[in-house]
Amino acid sequence: MYEDFNADYDRFVDWQARLAAELPFIERQLQAVDARRVLDAACGTGMHALALARRGYAVAGADLSAGMIERARANAAAVVAGEGMRVRFEVAGFGALAQAFGAGGFDALLCLGNSLPHLLSPEALAEALDDFAACLRPGGLLLVQNRNFDAVLAGGERWMSPQAHREGDMERVFLRFYDFEPDGRLTFNMVVLRRQGAQGWEQRVRSTRLWPMRQAELMPALEAAGFGELACWGNLAGEPFDLRDSGNLVVEGRRRGHKETRGQGDTETRGRETQWGALVEMGVLDRIRCSKSAASAMPATNIR
Ligand SMILES: C[S@@+](CC[C@H](N)C(=O)[O-])C[C@H]1O[C@@H](n2cnc3c(N)ncnc32)[C@H](O)[C@@H]1O
Repeated sequence: MYEDFNADYDRFVDWQARLAAELPFIERQLQAVDARRVLDAACGTGMHALALARRGYAVAGADLSAGMIERARANAAAVVAGEGMRVRFEVAGFGALAQAFGAGGFDALLCLGNSLPHLLSPEALAEALDDFAACLRPGGLLLVQNRNFDAVLAGGERWMSPQAHREGDMERVFLRFYDFEPDGRLTFNMVVLRRQGAQGWEQRVRSTRLWPMRQAELMPALEAAGFGELACWGNLAGEPFDLRDSGNLVVEGRRRGHKETRGQGDTETRGRETQWGALVEMGVLDRIRCSKSAASAMPATNIR
């Protein structure tokens, strides 16, 4: 999907509004761990990475899509090269990051914009989270921004808000919707309508499959991969998480100092794996774990 959508991605996202809404919270979380070296995993066209580079962080970006990375490098040339900054962008998917960038070299790893749900199985998620942990120094920060699929599934929220874009006499409309599949996965469809001047509309549909990861699926996977001090927010403005209402599930964790071999988790980890599901069922997880901080409402930061 992203191989040929990369050309339109920066038209589809209103980066000015999104970065204004998200960067203050992201920077607060980075500063809390004295982060300097940041890896943006699934960086797309590199706009978060470039914005952070301009704020003085040593940033690298990676994405599975060569087209996205080509676009990120072009954005880097346009945005930061003239300011003497270099941001390294590499084609590397989840699971291949520590190999591409070396182990333990980052203070923080970002995985934003609902990228993690492109992994379709618990095994692929475990491999990706192990790789994230391997990239981080002990105590390093992981920040994940997913859609709140608990709310999507509960409400059968099929359609996302349309976006329109105009450049001269070229108009584009982006329509997104899910197909709920019998195997519990989603097909994510992106329709792009395009017309120039008075010509007729052209249409193009692209699709990819997603795993609508619930909070009770993601949290134990993070614990098992060696992340502690887990906390949730409802978006990247730092609003509290509400399982039923929030647009996003934003999760932060810190890489623990040491990690047991997977499957031999300590009592604490094993106990918590069962607790997450039970607490979510009881409807209390979002209240006890997810009330760290609240900021002003900034709907633009919701990746709905
Ligand atoms: C919706 S975009 C998000 C891009 C950017 N992080 C943002 O917040 O706008 C999802 C990105 O995930 C990338 N992606 C999908 N599967 C991936 C994988 N297995 N490993 C790394 N990146 C992946 C896609 O190529 C795409 O750039």
